[in-house]
Amino acid sequence: MPVTFSKSALLLSLLLGLGQAHAASEPAPVALAARLGIPHPAVIAHRGASFDAPESTAAAYKTARDLGADYLELDLQRSKDGVLFALHDNHLQRTTDVATRFPERKDSPATAFTLAELKTLDAGSWFNSAYPDRARPAFAGLKILTLDEIIDIAEGNPLHKPGLYIETKEPRQFPGIERELKEKLQARGWLIPPGSTPTKNEVAVGQGTGKVILQTFEKNSLELLQKEMPQVPKILLLWVGEGNIEPASNVPFAKSGEKDKAAYYARQQPKDKAEFQRWIDYAKAQGAIGTGPSAALTQGGEQSYADLVKPWMNQYTHEQGLLVHVYTLDDAVDYQKAMDAGVDGIFTNRASELLKFYKRPAAASVEQVLRNNGF
Ligand code: G3P
Ligand code: CA
Repeated sequence: MPVTFSKSALLLSLLLGLGQAHAASEPAPVALAARLGIPHPAVIAHRGASFDAPESTAAAYKTARDLGADYLELDLQRSKDGVLFALHDNHLQRTTDVATRFPERKDSPATAFTLAELKTLDAGSWFNSAYPDRARPAFAGLKILTLDEIIDIAEGNPLHKPGLYIETKEPRQFPGIERELKEKLQARGWLIPPGSTPTKNEVAVGQGTGKVILQTFEKNSLELLQKEMPQVPKILLLWVGEGNIEPASNVPFAKSGEKDKAAYYARQQPKDKAEFQRWIDYAKAQGAIGTGPSAALTQGGEQSYADLVKPWMNQYTHEQGLLVHVYTLDDAVDYQKAMDAGVDGIFTNRASELLKFYKRPAAASVEQVLRNNGF
C-alpha cells in the first residue's frame, strides 16, 4: 500500500525537517567555540576594565571580573629578577611615576627593573590626570601586578570566575617566557589536562577548558606556546605593518599627509588577498584556534588600526576552522559593525558596555562595582 501524507502531516514533517536542518547547521564558529569551552561571543576585558580604572591594575581587573567579563586580558612581561608581571608598554613613563621615583632610569624598559622597584611605582595617578571625569582618589598609588596577583583576582569572586587571555608582549625581549608561563599556570592549577571536554559551568569560563587563551603577534612565540602548551587555545594577533601582514603601501605615517595615526591606519590594508590568507593559513598550521585582528574605530583614537575584520576576511578565517576575536572596540556602533561582519568575540576597554550590547548586562553598575571593591 503506498504511503500517503495528509497536508498537515506533510507540513509537520517539513517543520521537523527544517528544525533538524537548523540544529545541524549551527554556525561552525559557534560549535568550535563550544568545543573549546570558549564563550560565544566572548567579552575580553582589555587590560581589565581599562576605560573605568587604570589599566592592568587591581581596580581594572576586579571591576572587569565583577561586571561579568569572560576574560581578563593582560600583556605579559618579566622583571629584571625574573617575575612575570602585566604591563602593556615597554616603558613605564605613560602609566607610572617612574620619572619621579627613578629620574635617571625613566627611559629604561620596564624589564630593567626588579619587582621590588616596580612595586614602588604609582600606576594609578596618571589615569586621574588623564581622565579627570573618571578619576577616583583610591586609584592613586595602585600597583603594577604580577601574574600571580591577577590569577588571585580571577579566582577571587565565587559567583563569577573569568578566564585569562594572556599576550606574550614583545616576547623576543624575554627568551624562555613561554616555558615560564607554562610553569606558572601549571603551578596555579590553570592548565587543563589534554583531552578534557568542556562542561557547562555555572561560574563561567574560568573553571572550564577555555579558561586560558594565549595570544601573540609573534610567529616565533606562537610556535613556542604551541610546543609548551599544545592543549591551550591560542590566538595569532594580526595587524598591518612591520613583522606582521605586509601593507599595500609602504609610505610611512610621517610622509602620508594623514592628520593622525588613526586616519593613517584606517587607510592601511594588506598587500593583497593572498597576503591576508597566508597569515590565516599560517595560524592554522601552527595550531592556533583563531586570530585576533585589528579594527578601525568609528571615532578614531589611539586604538584605531587597520580594518582586518571585513566580512570576506572573517569568512575566510571561519572556512579554515578558526575563530575571530577583534581588538579593541568600545562603542555600540563598532560592536554592531564587527558582529555583522561575523566576529566571534571582542576585546574591549568597556566590558560593561559590551555585556550590555550582548544582552548580558552586569548586575551592578561600574560605580557600584568600584565601590564594592574599595575604590
Ligand atoms: O591583545 C590584543 C590587543 O591587546 C592588542 O593590542 O597593543 O593593546 O596589546 P595591544
Ligand atoms: Ca594585549
